[in-house]
Amino acid sequence: MKFSYSALAVSGLALATAQSNITCQDGVHIIVARASGEPAGFGILGPVKDNILRQIPNSDAIAVPYPAKLGGDITYPESEQEGVGNLTKLVTQYGDACSSSKMVLLGYSQGAQVVGDTLIGIDYEKFPVWIKSAGVDQKYIDNIVAVVMMGDPANVHGEAINHGNSTRDGFFPRNNTAEWANRGLVDKTISYCDANDTFCDKGSSIAVHIGYIGEYGTQAAEFVVSKAGGSGSNSSSPSGTSSATPSATPSTTTSGAPAATTSPGSSGASALLSGQTTYNLVMLVGSAMIFAVAF
Ligand SMILES: *[C@@H]1O[C@H](CO)[C@@H](O)[C@H](O)[C@H]1NC(C)=O
Ligand SMILES: *[C@@H]1O[C@H](CO)[C@@H](O)[C@H](O)[C@H]1NC(C)=O
Ligand SMILES: *[C@@H]1O[C@H](CO)[C@@H](O)[C@H](O)[C@H]1NC(C)=O
Ligand SMILES: *[C@@H]1O[C@H](CO)[C@@H](O)[C@H](O)[C@H]1NC(C)=O
Ligand SMILES: *[C@@H]1O[C@H](CO)[C@@H](O)[C@H](O)[C@H]1NC(C)=O
Ligand SMILES: *[C@@H]1O[C@H](CO)[C@@H](O)[C@H](O)[C@H]1NC(C)=O
Repeated sequence: MKFSYSALAVSGLALATAQSNITCQDGVHIIVARASGEPAGFGILGPVKDNILRQIPNSDAIAVPYPAKLGGDITYPESEQEGVGNLTKLVTQYGDACSSSKMVLLGYSQGAQVVGDTLIGIDYEKFPVWIKSAGVDQKYIDNIVAVVMMGDPANVHGEAINHGNSTRDGFFPRNNTAEWANRGLVDKTISYCDANDTFCDKGSSIAVHIGYIGEYGTQAAEFVVSKAGGSGSNSSSPSGTSSATPSATPSTTTSGAPAATTSPGSSGASALLSGQTTYNLVMLVGSAMIFAVAF
């Protein structure tokens, strides 16, 4: 199998731009890995990210530049590994520049696998290729206060981080799950997976797979806020105290500045619906391809 990265030059550029301009935040620095098939940006997790930004002043957010593809010009493992490489870069660059700032990682579907593999590394997954990587250094993990994963295809049933009623492993179950505890991540991580989810439960429901924002989005944001030490008392009033200037890149948002991906007043159901509709269509097309990739 040949790995080709040439199609990804554009997002590589975006990463360089974003990371040349790190502002250390007193709140949290949120890094979001979107789901398969979603256009570059925060994707379906956008409203959760916005909810957290509203509640924790002096925070910002950035999206992981990566293909988020299920197949086509790049395979799922290639795409996912690009995500791991670039999320690792985002975490280490921010951690080096802002050693006393808190980080939060959010990932949906392929993005959830990217988050998990970045944190605890990979030994063997049921990828067509054997991939082994160590995960980020512990010193960066210590600066991560909360991790939320939704619909992770590398889900393993029965782990302490799991929430939801899934009863099976996902498509590419990890075999290094001991690392969640070894790296002190169990208490600060939630991985949502419900029964019959096509990818994290190896079931047959796309609807379950795309439903986690509706089911658990608010709970996930509250979890992050509690782990970040905020009381949630700012939940209804947006903060105007951000020290950061509005970002030049559409994939970066700061609390106190309107999110580029969300129009005013649309943080509720309507934004969620249109996001889910788009994602639903993409997933239906893409789901056939992931099966082809996996077997
Ligand atoms: C990050 O992604 C870009 C393209 O999206 C790729 O060129 C680059 O190699 C990736 N970086 C890492 C560390 O994988
Ligand atoms: C699993 O949980 C979801 C979300 O609460 C619920 O909608 C679904 O009915 C549950 N499925 C089973 C099999 O219990
Ligand atoms: C994961 O699986 C690979 C392949 O079977 C094996 O070599 C490796 O030792 C396993 N790692 C763990 C932590 O079990
Ligand atoms: C799983 O979802 C599919 C598609 O919606 C449905 O046909 C099937 O009955 C579901 N299975 C279970 C066990 O809920
Ligand atoms: C709420 O906002 C005020 C004013 O910006 C700030 O002083 C306070 O620390 C915030 N509370 C939380 C829990 O973030
Ligand atoms: C960071 O971005 C802001 C907004 O685009 C810009 O005004 C500022 O000059 C940038 N700082 C650096 C160090 O690039």
